[in-house]
Parts: sequence; C-alpha cells; structure tokens
Amino acid sequence: MFARINSMGLFGIESYMVGVEVDFGQGLPRIDIVGLPDASVNESRNRVRSAVKNCGYSFPQSRVTINLSPADIRKEGPVYDLPLFIAILKAGDQLNCKIDDCAFIGELSLDGLVRHINGALSMVIRAKKSGIKRVFVPAENALECSVVSGIEIYAVENVNQAVKHLTGEEILTPVKYEELSKNENAFGLFAPDFRDVMGQQEARYAMEIAAAGGHNIIMVGPPGSGKSMLAKRLPSILPDMTFEESLETTELYSIAGAMPEGVSLIRERPFRAPHHTVSPAGLSGGGVIPRPGEISLSHNGVLFLDELPEFSRTAMEVLRQPIEDGKVTISRANASLTYPCSTMVVCAMNPCPCGFKGHPKKECTCPDIAAKRYLAKVSGPLLDRMDIHIEVPPVDFDSLSSKVPSECSADIKKRVNAARKIQQERLAGSGVSCNAKMTPEQTKRFCVAEPSAMAFLENVFDRLDFSARAYDKILRVARTSADLDGSETIKVSHIAQAVQFRSLDRRFWRR
Ligand SMILES: Nc1ncnc2c1ncn2[C@@H]1O[C@H](COP(=O)(O)OP(=O)(O)O)[C@@H](O)[C@H]1O
Ligand SMILES: [Mg+2]
Ligand SMILES: [Zn+2]
Repeated sequence: MFARINSMGLFGIESYMVGVEVDFGQGLPRIDIVGLPDASVNESRNRVRSAVKNCGYSFPQSRVTINLSPADIRKEGPVYDLPLFIAILKAGDQLNCKIDDCAFIGELSLDGLVRHINGALSMVIRAKKSGIKRVFVPAENALECSVVSGIEIYAVENVNQAVKHLTGEEILTPVKYEELSKNENAFGLFAPDFRDVMGQQEARYAMEIAAAGGHNIIMVGPPGSGKSMLAKRLPSILPDMTFEESLETTELYSIAGAMPEGVSLIRERPFRAPHHTVSPAGLSGGGVIPRPGEISLSHNGVLFLDELPEFSRTAMEVLRQPIEDGKVTISRANASLTYPCSTMVVCAMNPCPCGFKGHPKKECTCPDIAAKRYLAKVSGPLLDRMDIHIEVPPVDFDSLSSKVPSECSADIKKRVNAARKIQQERLAGSGVSCNAKMTPEQTKRFCVAEPSAMAFLENVFDRLDFSARAYDKILRVARTSADLDGSETIKVSHIAQAVQFRSLDRRFWRR
C-alpha cells in the first residue's frame, strides 16, 4: 500500500531529486499532499485522480497521503503529475515492475496526456548525476533532454505508453540525440550580412573585436548612420559556441519555457533585442513564477539595447550588477535564486534628442541643457561597463555609392573564430572563455604588453586620467586586438586601438 517514485524539481537553474511517496491508509476517502507543495502541486491531486479513472484504472476509496521529499524545499509546478500517477498505480498493485533506477516528470491532462514542462533539461542532468538510468519525459521535452548522454530518455505522449512500456507490453525506444539534432538554425534567424555595410571601417573593426573577445560595446551616432544595421549583423560573425556553452544556454531556454520548436540544442549564440519599454523584471528575470529575463536568455550571446536613453533608469540600474557579475540573483519571499547571464551587451544611441550633435553637415537644434540631460540618462556606471565606445559617423556618399562590395560576414567570422580559439586555449579550465570576462588576475597574467606598448599606455593614462576599471578594459581589448593579429604579445598598435575605443565618452560626456 506504499510506493516511492523518483522525480526531480527545479530551483533557479539547479535541480534536485524529489521522492514522490504515496501511502493508502484507513479512513474516509481524501487526499493529502505534504512536503511544502505550492498551489499548482496541490491541484495535481485532481488532475491525477481524473487521469487515473479516465485511463481505466481505479482510484482508491480510502485515505491517500502523498509526501514529496525532501520536505524542506518548496515544490512548484505540475511536474509531479506523472510520477504521482505511476505511484498511485504501484501502491494499488495495478502496476508491477521494478523502477528504482527510473525517474518521471510531466504534467497530465485529465484524460492522461503528458504535457510539456519547463526545465526538463536541467532535471535530466540532475537525474544522471544521481545515478538514475531511465527518465520518462513529456514527448514535447524529449528533444532538449536527448542532449544528455549516458541516460535513457523515454518520450511519452500519454500515461498509457509509460505503463505499457513498464509492463513490457509495448516497449518504447529511447530517444537518440543524433536523429533529432538536424535543426541547426535554432532561432530561425536570417542574420543579415556585413557585406551590405558600406564604408564604416572603424565601426566594422570595432564589431569584429567585440565579437572576437566578447566585449561590451556602445555606438553613438546620428540617425541613419547604420548603428542598428551594424548590430543586427553581429550574429553573423559571432564565434561558434562550444558544447558547454550550448548546453548552458539551452538549459536556460528550457527553464524559461522558451525552447524554439523542433530544436534539441541551441548552437547559435542568442541575440536578444528587447524593446525599450521592457519591464525591469523582463530584463533581469523574476516574476511570480520566476523566469529567466532577457539578460539570461542572451547568456553566451548578445543583449542589444537599441536607443539606450529610451530605457528607463530602473531598467539600466537592474542590468548593472548582472553585467559585471555574469549572473543575476532574484529575491523571492523566502529564498533567492540565481541565473547565469554571461552576455555581451551592445548599445546604440543618438548623441542628442535631435540626433545631429557633432554632425559634420547638419545643425543640432537641441538646447544645450536638453542635450546634456539626454546623455545623462545613460548612467555613468553602465557606461563604465562598456569596453568599446565608438562613434558611428554618417556614411559619406562615396562609400555608399561604391560598386565594390564590402567584406562578407563569413570571412570576418573566420578571423573571429581563430581569435576566440586562441582565447579558449589560453583560458582552458578556468571557467572563462573569452578575453572580456577575464578576472583582474587573469588580465594581469595574460595581457603582457611589450615595453614600448606599456610606456605608451602609461603616458596616455596620465594624460587622460583613466580609471582603474578602464585600465583593465583597455588591456583586455588590446589582448583581443593582438589575438586577431595572431600576436603573442601586445604591441603599441593594439594598445593604441584599445585607447581609441575609450575616447568617445570624453567627447560626449566629458567625464
Ligand atoms: N554604411 C552603410 N551602408 C549601407 N547602407 C547604410 C549604411 N548606413 C546606413 N545605411 C542605410 O540606412 C538605413 C538606416 O540605418 P540604421 O541602421 O537604421 O541607422 P541608425 O540605427 O543609426 O539610425 C539602413 O537600413 C541602410 O539602408
Ligand atoms: Mg537605429
Ligand atoms: Zn541635437
């Protein structure tokens, strides 16, 4: 009259094993759920009772106690429907099989269909670590789960399939990763090509450096100068993802319930461009049912903030710490949870409300105070976190009308990939995979400049009065510039380039 079934729960990106225990006792028919269930888990009893009856089994006319262990962690969501169903059948001797090495996750409909859940990938990874050999998952989650090797994944569309498999009546074949991983273009993005961008040599090179080293970048320039155009082409030159990066990003999409359809593993770096009206929680994550925000959905990819000054002050404020830390912590009533967000932030903005401040031909019509206020909307600390600052001037007619096409994205990407590979080998085993994310210690160790380059930097530094944060950023950008050149040491030209990329804020913000 007792059964215990393995299942898993999710907390942030961490999953943990949950034991779903069912006991039939004496007394009037009623169902109690203990073990810190939330409202959605409580509703499980009704769904499961209906499903049991509608699938042709009998539900006990006695007292049913359901315990979800461990008792001290709050259980959320409908994942426990399927394990509960199996536990009820087992406890009532309606199902006889050995399933100690199995785990079950899935929501049920009243007629026994197994429905999609969020976070299945993370749960399967946990199950494998805990020695589980077979996991039964909703068919809709099977693709993402198939990525985990060394554990058998059974995709079930309805509970009867699971039961028949367990009794040996109709054996299912475990899902195979290779078969299902044909979809290469997870986001269905058609990334436009850098071939279309005429002229703009400096901005193009800044994009190449940013992509190669994972550096944050801000572009300032008049409307129509091609800032949005440049940013939208970034995905076409981002370095290929490592398997670990793909897995991390896929896990976050799985938790957010945002997996693109028909995709098992996300292999391209995400490019997220939230509108400036996005809520702070939409950006950083959170909500009643916590969900990763835009910054986490761009983990290992790009977060593009177009028309930066239009974003609210709170939105910018909320991004500051996560950009620095590569993770975001969300406070909840009795706990806080953390999502990773190691992302490359790309910002674009006009220099003033009318957009023509500093324009070579057009006149800026903004009152001085309005222009100042506009720039002041971008918080200093956020600006400080941008490694590369560039001005995107209006493109001149000669470049625009040139018949010679610009270099295409595929060629740029080859250099970016080569430079990223150098970084990954240099930083192997440190948990950091690109120059932009190096710790101060790593920066000191790996950003070794030639004496002449060092002297140059020292000179500039005294003259321009850079902050300590800027110093490290310059070294890291110079490191990427050297990696793109295939140069072991950092030379004067690399430092000069990095310094150049830090001069813009002086021009506009005069700080
Ligand atoms: N360097 C360029 N080469 C080719 N077309 C350009 C260039 N810069 C701008 N354009 C054209 O101008 C349009 C507007 O550019 P956009 O990126 O929206 O400017 P911004 O975001 O700076 O306001 C683009 O869609 C493109 O057609
Ligand atoms: Mg634009
Ligand atoms: Zn203006």
